[in-house]
Amino acid sequence: MQSLEIKGGLKLKGEVEISGSKNSALPLIALTILSNREVQLENVPNVVDIKTLTKLLQMLGAEAQFGGTENNILKIDSKNINKTVATYDIVKTMRASILVLGPLLARFGHCDVSLPGGCAIGARPVDLHLKALEQMGATIEIEDGYVKARAENGLIGADIFFEKKTVTGTENIVMAAALARGKTRLFNCALEPEVVQTCEALKDAGVKITGIGTETIEVEGTDRELLNIEKIRVIPDRIEAGTYLVAGAITNSEITITNSESNHIGAIIDKLVEMGFSFHIKDDRITIIPALKIKPVEIITAEYPLFPTDMQAQFVALATQSNGTSVIEERLFENRFMHVSELNRLGADIKISHNRVSIHGGRELHGADMMATDLRASSALVLAGLVAKGTSRVHRIYHLDRGYQNLEKKFLGLGANIKRIKGIL
Ligand code: UD1
Repeated sequence: MQSLEIKGGLKLKGEVEISGSKNSALPLIALTILSNREVQLENVPNVVDIKTLTKLLQMLGAEAQFGGTENNILKIDSKNINKTVATYDIVKTMRASILVLGPLLARFGHCDVSLPGGCAIGARPVDLHLKALEQMGATIEIEDGYVKARAENGLIGADIFFEKKTVTGTENIVMAAALARGKTRLFNCALEPEVVQTCEALKDAGVKITGIGTETIEVEGTDRELLNIEKIRVIPDRIEAGTYLVAGAITNSEITITNSESNHIGAIIDKLVEMGFSFHIKDDRITIIPALKIKPVEIITAEYPLFPTDMQAQFVALATQSNGTSVIEERLFENRFMHVSELNRLGADIKISHNRVSIHGGRELHGADMMATDLRASSALVLAGLVAKGTSRVHRIYHLDRGYQNLEKKFLGLGANIKRIKGIL
């Protein structure tokens, strides 16, 4: 297994280009199941999760090809899909595989998708996806670890009320509704930019859809007529953007991120401003300006447009550099504090109480070995390594490779001392 070795304590400088959004590209790949032609996805991040979902579609019978200088163009032709079983061996590696459930069921009237099961950051059920499909007339059975969904005469438009805001749940059901018979009204939808992009792509393909970007979305289904989806450019990754801004912040350096969308990261920028940093924003370029003194912060994670849970770990790492005590509360996922014990190995003073951490900042961090546990927690360990004195090693970085394109190359470009090594752990 590979590790990252970081010699910390250096200031960063320069620019880093933000890749396309992993969490937007994933539903768009699933969306190709609804298309009657090859779809060209552009600005697709070259990360493992994207390859995993593409492989799943290929196993179902789709043709797919990556191209462009960094393999950021993905052409997928799902017209000839002839299998409807998403097997455990692929779904278990990535929860977002559940995104094929709605499109497969809507198009073929049946599919079997392995249950994603638990994962490192909590139970993360898919009950809301299943309940919505049942309300659209599907029969759902859980058998041998598989969701067996049937709607042989097609899905029927319905009124769906999501008890909780769910990102992939909203995407799944919006895609299913696009091929259903009649109108589906979805209430309490997730507002994330990735959900908006899925809806916009359906609209561009001629689907009658209103309320995009609001909690109430209405979709007029095509009664199983496939869609003419041609080309979609994936939006910038707001979590990658936030992670690099925190890299600038934790090393108190001036850096610029490019190809970013500042409107999508308002809550992240707000918290950095509260901590004493300032910003120059022009078009797709955001420059973070160092703080005179890094101040402690209070954060509660919540649904978009509020502070994202996917940035919680990075801000825990950053708060170790503030003068005072910060409190960060995790409201979306239980068990999402695995980075805390690793950060404490560097000398940080962080305490967990239920779903809340208190970070007593101002202690110098010293390099150590750390174990990555999930995607975003891993990025927090790298960020801490950048500021810790001496050498840190982050092990099991396959978690990072799931979601960060060219991570060490991008950090090297910013002047960090970082290299990938063959690890033993
Ligand atoms: C998506 C993101 C993930 C992010 C999360 C929250 C993708 C591929 N992943 O995950 O990076 O951390 O949003 O912003 O886009 N829930 C249920 N039942 C369900 C579905 C969800 O109880 O059927 C709960 C979850 O346990 C969680 C909350 O709802 O507490 C939100 O989860 P959800 O928005 O569904 O997360 P994902 O879509 O899996």
